[in-house]
Amino acid sequence: MNKMIIEPAKSIPAFYAGQSILLTGPTGFLGKVFIEKILRSCPDVREIFLLMRSKTESNINERLEEILNLPLFEKLRKERPSSFEKLIPISGDISEKELGLSATDRQMLVERVTIVIHAAASVRFNNSLKYAIFVNTRATRDVCILAQSIKNLIALVYVSTAFAHVNEPFIDEKIYLPIADWQKIIKIVETLDEHTLNIFTAKCLDYAPNTYIFSKNLAEKIIQDYSSSFPCAIVRPSIVIPTIQEPIPGWLDNVYGPIGLFIGGGKGILRVACLNKTVNEDAVPVDIVIKIIIVVTWKIGLTTYDHNITDSFTLQTPLVVNCTGQKYITYQDCIKMMFNIANEIPLEGTVWTPHTILTNNFVLFYILTILLHILPAILIDLILIFAGRRPMLVQLQRRVYVANRAVSYFSFHEWKYSHVNRLILTSLIPHDNLDSFSFECSNLDIRTYCKNSAIGAKKFLLHEDMSQLDAVKEHNKRVYLLVRIIKTIIFIGVLWIMYKWIFSGTLNY
Ligand SMILES: NC(=O)c1ccc[n+]([C@@H]2O[C@H](COP(=O)([O-])OP(=O)(O)OC[C@H]3O[C@@H](n4cnc5c(N)ncnc54)[C@H](OP(=O)(O)O)[C@@H]3O)[C@@H](O)[C@H]2O)c1
Repeated sequence: MNKMIIEPAKSIPAFYAGQSILLTGPTGFLGKVFIEKILRSCPDVREIFLLMRSKTESNINERLEEILNLPLFEKLRKERPSSFEKLIPISGDISEKELGLSATDRQMLVERVTIVIHAAASVRFNNSLKYAIFVNTRATRDVCILAQSIKNLIALVYVSTAFAHVNEPFIDEKIYLPIADWQKIIKIVETLDEHTLNIFTAKCLDYAPNTYIFSKNLAEKIIQDYSSSFPCAIVRPSIVIPTIQEPIPGWLDNVYGPIGLFIGGGKGILRVACLNKTVNEDAVPVDIVIKIIIVVTWKIGLTTYDHNITDSFTLQTPLVVNCTGQKYITYQDCIKMMFNIANEIPLEGTVWTPHTILTNNFVLFYILTILLHILPAILIDLILIFAGRRPMLVQLQRRVYVANRAVSYFSFHEWKYSHVNRLILTSLIPHDNLDSFSFECSNLDIRTYCKNSAIGAKKFLLHEDMSQLDAVKEHNKRVYLLVRIIKTIIFIGVLWIMYKWIFSGTLNY
């Protein structure tokens, strides 16, 4: 393992001036926030190559244009629109061998890139083992192979996950022994047929809760195995949630963590969740994660490496930084707070009174899922079919169920994390850069943050009109009244059936 010699600080924007960055995963949650922050806070960066894949409806240029039109980029669009010219989309698909890059693009990257940020991944928990290994493990190897051939590489940062080592109760900022040998696993998934792989997957899942964690666990070892070739680091975020502040509070583009509970519960769709109420939810705002990635890159990019240093030194390569929450809230308190906020900032299209039952009893969870999710969904879909409309609730509830099961594992376990490297990095940030790059957020007011996130979910995710809150409240009052009537009818109906049953039983005697 190489040791780092920490050099006198150079300002963070000055470090990025003239650098050419290759970013994988630029269309993702983290990728977009990274692009915005670098362009805004490090204005002299030379260029950012964005490894992207086309979608059936849009090619890579159109995808980039769509991203730049998001509210996330509004500030930059107003202040410095010319910075967008520094973005260069490159066609690639990381599920393919060698990242699906053309020979010309590859050569351009080899000549020009100086920093690699590898953030692309498939974050779905239920991918087939083959796909998860291709996208999350083999692609990381192929990024490292590319990095080895890059002529002037000064830093590679890999975005891992704080849950990559779920079998350890305390997660240190170091590389752990992997669950399996990544070279063998890549070979196996490349050669075995789907049927045999399904049997093999069950074996792998004895050591990891899902294929995502399994594939990310192996990827960390790949970074370590290539770490003698270039300066590199691993950043491990926990659940990534909306921005605290930059460039706008509450920006988001996914429904992870408390936002999922807010939207699902707030609309009355999520009536039961299989979660341990007393466990703390570990989540970190996306702008904090991005600042950590930027500062880590700065640190390893500025550091000279010496294989011969033997004294114990503070930072080692690959530098590992745990990037978890600084303020904690239990699932129970989180959901209470989100419903309280939902009263203040209600969601449109509510179908039932916001209330989610949290249970850690699997049998109760299944019974309530059938009663509160599946049966009402079948009923409403039948009504929709008779009304000549497209049924959708059963399909939606199927997705809610999959998400529910996937997330529940993480609420039944709690991990403790070391934050030594994070603290060292904080202390190294030049004083003049603290305003822009400090990732300290221990004085965060959770309620204000959750409220901003709820507003963000309404505006940026659900595209609801904030000026219609009063109308929404009125609509919801009617829904709640209807719910009360339905509940009363069901209650009276049950009483009546019981009465008839007991009464007819008595008569028969
Ligand atoms: N979000 C979290 O809570 C969280 C927590 C811990 C760690 N992380 C890690 O953080 C990183 C970024 O996560 P995220 O939240 O930004 O995920 P995300 O929103 O799902 O974005 C994933 C990115 O990877 C790209 N990608 C996926 N498959 C690809 C393929 N075959 N070829 C090319 N690009 C592909 C996606 O492109 P498309 O748009 O084309 O799909 C997208 O740009 C990941 O490494 C993830 O493991 C995330």
